[in-house]
Amino acid sequence: MRQVNIALDGPSGAGKSSVAKECAKQLGLIYIDTGAMYRAAALYAIENGIPIERDALLPHLDGIHIDIRHVEGSQHIFLNGRDVSERIREADASIGSSNIAVIPEVRAKLVELQRELARNNSVVMDGRDIGTNVLPDADLKIFLTASLDVRAKRRYRELQEKGMGRAYEAVKQDMAYRDENDSKRECAPLCMAEDAVLIDSSDMTFEEVVRKIAGMISKL
Ligand code: DC
Repeated sequence: MRQVNIALDGPSGAGKSSVAKECAKQLGLIYIDTGAMYRAAALYAIENGIPIERDALLPHLDGIHIDIRHVEGSQHIFLNGRDVSERIREADASIGSSNIAVIPEVRAKLVELQRELARNNSVVMDGRDIGTNVLPDADLKIFLTASLDVRAKRRYRELQEKGMGRAYEAVKQDMAYRDENDSKRECAPLCMAEDAVLIDSSDMTFEEVVRKIAGMISKL
C-alpha cells in the first residue's frame, strides 16, 4: 500500500484507540495515540506541582520532552525518558489532559510532533482535531462516536479490568466534563471534519467497527 494517513477523531471512550490499534495491526500501519501526548504533558505539570494554567505553564514548556516508541508492536509513551504509558491512564492525568489541551502553545508543540510522525510513516492517528487541524489532507477521516452512557460503561469496564476501578457515576461525570471541555475550547476543538465519515458505534460490536474501518482503509 502507498503511504497513507488516517485521521480518527471522536469523544473519549468511543473506542478509538482499540479500533485504531486493531486496524493498524491488520493493515501494517503505525498507530499514533495523540491523547497520550496531552496526558503526558499534564502528568509533567502534576508531578512538578505546576498549575495547569497558561501563565504558570508556559515557562516550563521547554522542559517537557515527549516521545513515542513502539515496543513489540505496542505504543509506549515516554516523558523525559521515563515510560509513563500506564501512569497517564489515571484519573488526575485524564482531567489534566483535557485542561492542558486548551492551551494553544501546548497544542502547537504536540501538533508539530504529530505531523512529523505522519510525514514519515503510514499512520492511523487518533485524537480530537486530527481531521480538522493536524492532518487536514488525510486520505481518510473517520469520526467515531457513541452515546455518553455506552462510552461511560465501556470505560468503566476497561478500568475495572486494569484494576483501576472507580464508581460508574464518577467515570461518567469525568467523561461528560471532558466532552464539554474538549468541544467548547477555542483552539482546535473536538468537532467532525466536513469530509469525515461518521460512525456511531453505540449499537455496533468492536469487530463490526474494525471491519468497517479496515474495509475503507484497504480500498485507498
Ligand atoms: O484520547 P484521550 O482521552 O486519551 O485524550 C485525552 C485528552 O487530550 C482529551 O480529553 C482531550 C485532549 N486531546 C486533544 O485535545 N486533542 C487530541 N488530538 C487528543 C487529545
